[in-house]
Amino acid sequence: MTDIAGKTAVVTGGGSGIGMGLAKALAAEGASVAVADIIPANAEKVAAEIRAAGGTAVAVACDVCERASIAEMKRQVNEALGPVTLLFANAGATSFDPLMEMSDDDVDWILQVNLHGVMNTTRAFLPDMMKAKEGHICATASMAGLLPGWIPVHVPYSAAKAGIIGMMMNLALEMEEYNVHTTSYCPGGVATGMKVNNASYRPARFGGPGEGEVHVGEESTVATSHDFYRPEDIAPMVLNAVRNNRPFVFDHPDQRVHFRNTYSGVVEACYDDADAWEREHGTPEANPDGARLVTS
Ligand SMILES: NC(=O)c1ccc[n+]([C@@H]2O[C@H](COP(=O)([O-])OP(=O)(O)OC[C@H]3O[C@@H](n4cnc5c(N)ncnc54)[C@H](O)[C@@H]3O)[C@@H](O)[C@H]2O)c1
Repeated sequence: MTDIAGKTAVVTGGGSGIGMGLAKALAAEGASVAVADIIPANAEKVAAEIRAAGGTAVAVACDVCERASIAEMKRQVNEALGPVTLLFANAGATSFDPLMEMSDDDVDWILQVNLHGVMNTTRAFLPDMMKAKEGHICATASMAGLLPGWIPVHVPYSAAKAGIIGMMMNLALEMEEYNVHTTSYCPGGVATGMKVNNASYRPARFGGPGEGEVHVGEESTVATSHDFYRPEDIAPMVLNAVRNNRPFVFDHPDQRVHFRNTYSGVVEACYDDADAWEREHGTPEANPDGARLVTS
């Protein structure tokens, strides 16, 4: 079990959407919350709303694309709220463009904010959790990292989100002895302002910030015609998974069939091929000259 009440939590990207929902739900469950966001005014607004509702919250400016900014955010959070045992690495950005229509800046930004942002934020807060032998890191990945058909023309985004999932699964093993747990939250459609806000939170070094909505091509929405949850409705479900140390949160039950069809086919086909290959060519041990595995 991961305790939430009485603990200190950081939510990156807490100034709007899913992060705002998580920050408010954490406070409602008795955690002290640091709302970290690249848009300080949004972080301030969420923190003020939490305080007005009787909770404890501070707002901290942070660009998760920059290690120095994360370090300064951590310093301010520790000063205001003490050690952190709950990290929600949620900040992210998206694009809806075919890969070869994206600029180098577009690709770098999407990878940096979504993948490196989670890695760097995790590495900043992990030492304190390891020392305390207590902690939980919940990273917001995406169904786009698992089900490409759900949202096409998201190549760098899908790469980053799949990377987060691998990171969290592997980290869970490395952190077993420290009692630090991980969760990959894979939203499958939450009604947020991402499309409208995206341009405004693009850092200068990747060509931003800009104004107006992010361009959404027709081909990017073919598979997304289903219900979108509200952040405030989905956050308690995420916290319940964190409390129970679940490795994943999938929030749309209607995606179960799509998921099963995608993976059961791949798993069976790949291992059928591997079995057939070994039947024809022998196993590495039986055929040392053709061995595919080298052991020292
Ligand atoms: N909404 C969905 O359906 C959906 C689906 C899958 C995954 N996600 C993921 O959920 C997370 C939250 O997105 P959302 O839908 O709530 O959108 P959102 O635009 O409402 O929230 C994103 C937040 O991240 C902040 N942010 C962006 N870049 C940042 C940076 N460099 N440093 C710090 N903060 C930064 C923004 O200011 C914003 O507050 C993202 O990681 C996104 O990829 C969302």
